[in-house]
Amino acid sequence: MNPSCPINQTAIWAQLHQHQRSTRFLHMRDLFRQQPDRFAQMHEQLNGLLLDYSKNRITEDTLTLLIELANIADVRGWTDKMRRGDKINVSENRAVLHTALRLPPHAVVYVDDQNIVPDIHHELERAYCFAESVRNGEYTGAHGERITDIINIGIGGSHLGPEMVTLALRPFQQTGLNIHYVANVDGANLMQVLDTVNPATTVFIIASKSFTTPETLLNAQTARNWFLQQGMCEVDISRHFIAITSAVTKAQAFGIIPEHIFTMFDWVGGRYSVWSTIGLSVICAIGKENFQNFLAGGRAMDEHFFHAPLRHNIPVLLGLIGLWYHTFYTTTSHAIIPYDHGLRRLAAHLQQLDMESNGKQVSRYGERLDFDTGPIIWGEEGVNCQHAFFQLLHQGPRLISSDFIVPINSFYHISTQHKVLAANAFAQTKALMHGKTLAEAYAELMHLDNKSRDIMAPQKVFPGNQPSNTLLLDEINPFNLGMLLAMYEHKVFVQGIIWGINSFDQWGVEYGKVLAKNIEPELSTNSPLHHDASTNGLIDYFRKHHHD
Ligand code: F6P
Repeated sequence: MNPSCPINQTAIWAQLHQHQRSTRFLHMRDLFRQQPDRFAQMHEQLNGLLLDYSKNRITEDTLTLLIELANIADVRGWTDKMRRGDKINVSENRAVLHTALRLPPHAVVYVDDQNIVPDIHHELERAYCFAESVRNGEYTGAHGERITDIINIGIGGSHLGPEMVTLALRPFQQTGLNIHYVANVDGANLMQVLDTVNPATTVFIIASKSFTTPETLLNAQTARNWFLQQGMCEVDISRHFIAITSAVTKAQAFGIIPEHIFTMFDWVGGRYSVWSTIGLSVICAIGKENFQNFLAGGRAMDEHFFHAPLRHNIPVLLGLIGLWYHTFYTTTSHAIIPYDHGLRRLAAHLQQLDMESNGKQVSRYGERLDFDTGPIIWGEEGVNCQHAFFQLLHQGPRLISSDFIVPINSFYHISTQHKVLAANAFAQTKALMHGKTLAEAYAELMHLDNKSRDIMAPQKVFPGNQPSNTLLLDEINPFNLGMLLAMYEHKVFVQGIIWGINSFDQWGVEYGKVLAKNIEPELSTNSPLHHDASTNGLIDYFRKHHHD
């Protein structure tokens, strides 16, 4: 799409609106009745991953129209631009090459006339060597003791991805090496971790692409002060503090030696960076081979995304179906529900991935978009969430789509529990789709008198027709997790391209940062305040009640 022909002025856009109006009263219960092979027609498989998208408010016609939309928006052309290193992050004049991080060493991708693949592998090899020496005990603390704890200090993309992957791959983690994550500038986050570690056996990884993020720098400084207060010396800093950044001189100014600075590249966005040296904490946790399998999983999904026909392309299908709801049904949210305790931070990672990428209402050409775009992403691990928010999914007034992610096998060989877990996931998607009619509710209440049945039956109705995708994975291993995360990255990409958004900048988080910087000194003085009445009142109240 270009500015002269916005996507919402195309004929296909109008056709999709018309199609939504004419199909919106179809119930999935009837669609399944009319199409007994609906699962066979509407699932895709790639290696150990299966996507069932049959429980959606779609027909073959819907898919045909949506794929036409993807063609008109030139999803394929934009994908090619991304993977060959064109500067598609136009507002920051940057290439977008997280897919290059997953390429084998012999691949070639040029940015500004330079093949970037050797640099990627050079930095990854440095990270593997460092992690290996920590894991095998060769790398010791300043007093010669084995490293027992790694603390990753970073926020946003320098935290969410690595933390989520480390938690998800816990069965692959080396015992005796504890990995901690500190993100929040709330001192409680750092202090609660520091309380559990010995400075002589701890390595701090300061993970910040820009090395300017105030929360990270403050936590790093507090960690450094704590380290020195614990009887460690200034010279010991060089052994215990590591940095991952693209701002090498800033990390050096903090006191980190060049050998301990791992480079991040300008063309990787924070929320896409877990595949880079930002994954150092993950590499320390699971080792080189497992991390390479994680990259290989991402690459397998890339290859599928680049080459599979759109009608059978997993990220494209997920992107189009999501867009169908958010733009044409104007739904506002999408839930991520992993039936896996290890994936309990997946929704948090995908919140940043999706909402920081597509939470925008202005096109990459600066035009206001007058249709609904990026959804609110939220979620929680199953089955816990069934006892929290599922009531609203089943009987609330809103259309809410969701993704159920279910591993078929668990590393914890308690098969009885795993079958209960899986049965719950399958039952929920069935209930959400099928619902329960008033007649069915009445039939269940035959033991009551008529008046009580009239009161109770409507309360027992489940409207159903609530859409969901189900993703089955053989197990949560590095390869499958790599496929899953890359799948979501491409899903978000597809939606951003069709909406005409630049999914790779994040101007929306800047404004609050600037205001916070101005307000912070005001909390320590009695200078007159010049904000709105609410902000003035809150600062004033804080000043009166805060104890240093
Ligand atoms: O939240 C804004 C943001 O810029 C994210 O995009 C990024 O992941 C995060 O801050 C951390 O940035 P950095 O790695 O530069 O500290």
